[in-house]
Formats: sequence, C-alpha cells, structure tokens
Amino acid sequence: MRTPSELLQLFNTHLAQLPLDRKPAGLYEPVRYELSLGGKRIRPVLMLLAYQLYREDVEAIMPTALGIEMYHNYTLLHDDVMDRADMRRGKPTVHKVWNDNTAILSGDAMLVLAYQLMSRTAPEHLTQVLARFTETALEIGEGQQYDMEFESRADVTEQEYIEMIRLKTSVLLAAALEIGAMQADAPAADCRALYDFGQYLGLAFQLQDDLLDVYGDPATFGKQIGGDILCNKKTFMLIHALLAADAAQRATLDRWLFASEFDAAEKIAAVTEIYNQLDIRQLAEAKIDEYFSLALAQLDALSIEPARKQTLASLAHSLMGRKS
Ligand code: IPE
Ligand code: IPE
Ligand code: MG
Ligand code: MG
Ligand code: MG
Repeated sequence: MRTPSELLQLFNTHLAQLPLDRKPAGLYEPVRYELSLGGKRIRPVLMLLAYQLYREDVEAIMPTALGIEMYHNYTLLHDDVMDRADMRRGKPTVHKVWNDNTAILSGDAMLVLAYQLMSRTAPEHLTQVLARFTETALEIGEGQQYDMEFESRADVTEQEYIEMIRLKTSVLLAAALEIGAMQADAPAADCRALYDFGQYLGLAFQLQDDLLDVYGDPATFGKQIGGDILCNKKTFMLIHALLAADAAQRATLDRWLFASEFDAAEKIAAVTEIYNQLDIRQLAEAKIDEYFSLALAQLDALSIEPARKQTLASLAHSLMGRKS
C-alpha cells in the first residue's frame, strides 16, 4: 500500500506529463501556470487512497485522478474572478497576471480538459463515473451561486451556509472518494460510506478554510488574509457574529457590511476584532471538530479491515492541521 506522499508524488509525475503545449499559448499558458503553482492535490490523493483500500494498481485510475484535479483547478480560476482574489498558492491569480477574459476562457479549457481526462476512465466504469462527476459539477455551480447570492444578504442562516459549502466544496471531496472506490469495484455500501466521509470531511475542510481566511498565517496560507471579510462572505463566523453581536457591535458590523468605499485593511481589522470579542474562532473550531468526528465515524461502516482505513483517517487528520 502506498503512503499519501507516495501517491502525491506519483500523481504529480503524471500531471507533469500532460500534453498542455497546444496553441494558442495565450489559452494554455495560464493552464500550465495554475497547475504549476502546486496545491495540496487532496482530491486525487483521496481518490487514489479510496481505490487503494481495495486494489493496489492505482495507475489504472490515473486519468480519472487527473481529471478531478484539472476540474478543481478550473473552479479556482473562475472562483478567483468571482471573489476578486489577487493571490492563490502564494502567487498572483490568473486574472491578475493576465485578465478576467483569460481566466474565463482558460478556465473553460480546463473544464473541457477535465471531461476529456474523465472520459478516459475504463469503459466498464465510465457511465457510473461520469454520472457522479457530472452531478457533482452541477452541484458545485449551485454552491458557488449561493455563495455569491449570500454576499448581498444579511439574514443567511447557519443551515443555509452548511448547505452552500456542502455544494461548493464537500461534494467534490465526496465524489473523489466514491469514484476511486467505484473503480475498484468496492461494495455499494462502502462507496456510500466513503462518499459520506468525504461530505463531512469537506464541511470541516471548508469551515477551516473560512477560519484560515481570517486567522491563517499569511506566510503559508497562500491567499489574502481577510479576503472573505472584504467580500461580505456569509461564513459561519460572520453569521454567528451577527447573531451574537450586541447593539454596538451590530452597528459596527452593519457599517462595514454596507460601506461602499473603505480601506481594506481597516475593514478586515474591525471585523476580526468583533470576531475576537465574541470568541467566534472557538465556536468555529468546535464546529470543525463536530464535522470531523462525523467524518471519521463513517469509516466504521467500511467492509475492510481497520488497519487499512488508518491511512485515510491519518490523511484526514493531517488535513485538519493544514497551514495552506
Ligand atoms: C481551495 O481548495 C478551495 C476550497 C474548497 C477551499 P484547496 O485548499 O484544496 O486548494 P489547493 O488545491 O490545495 O490549492
Ligand atoms: C471554494 O470556496 C469553492 C470553490 C472553489 C468551488 P472559496 O472561495 O473559499 O475558496 P478559496 O478560499 O478561494 O480557495
Ligand atoms: Mg475564493
Ligand atoms: Mg469562493
Ligand atoms: Mg476560502
């Protein structure tokens, strides 16, 4: 059984061999740029790990693993336009290096490349894999739409937020795991349990992403700290700050939420200060733990011997300690 870091290395070797030197260079250069910035590659590694629970020949599903990472990177190109984000993986975003139109069209090319890779799944699993992948891709668009719509609402509930992050983030982790297991012909109940593991892990993962967006280390996070605050993203933290605020804190929050012109650093500092006053960080950490425990509990249902599940559990643990 390969370790996650061995799988990552194997995956990156295959990724580097993708033929992305087509013309015009203006379309593919941003694709190569985005993929060269690295990233944790958690989705393909989760897929390969799930497959490896049942079968050793992980290279057999490499096209599908490449497809899911290509798809993820496509979402990032468009997400950074939508979120007005200037930095990703410690480097300027595609729309900053080039422009919005480039991010849109190179992103579209990546989506098509993702489908091309997915279509190279072994014929006996192709229908099943494409059905899951396509449904997931639609759900991610739905989640991203809610995420944008929530920017201009002040009454978003925790339940709505959880559903939004389930759609925009969790389903891709869940699909990665399920698609890995499917291709190893794992029992249907195991595929389902791995999907559910991915969903809960994804909720913990996105809650943590939102937490790191405020409290992460700028030296390692690779994205602008406070980006979500600037966009009025209705994160778990902002939703709970709005609920817990006293009259004065609420007035301050409202002033920043509705300000059309402001100094970015000042807004980030003011909203963070209210989070600090209300112990929002602790509240978010408790929620992350809750979903993380629910994720781990799903592994109990797997039909395989406990020792084999350990790699998955420890990868999930290390993800929770991530700094980027
Ligand atoms: C970023 O995903 C988008 C979210 C769902 C939070 P990752 O944190 O997996 O990004 P990379 O690929 O490692 O850069
Ligand atoms: C990520 O949400 C969801 C998708 C990219 C589909 P975020 O907007 O929080 O991701 P980051 O923080 O930009 O990576
Ligand atoms: Mg973003
Ligand atoms: Mg976003
Ligand atoms: Mg984020």
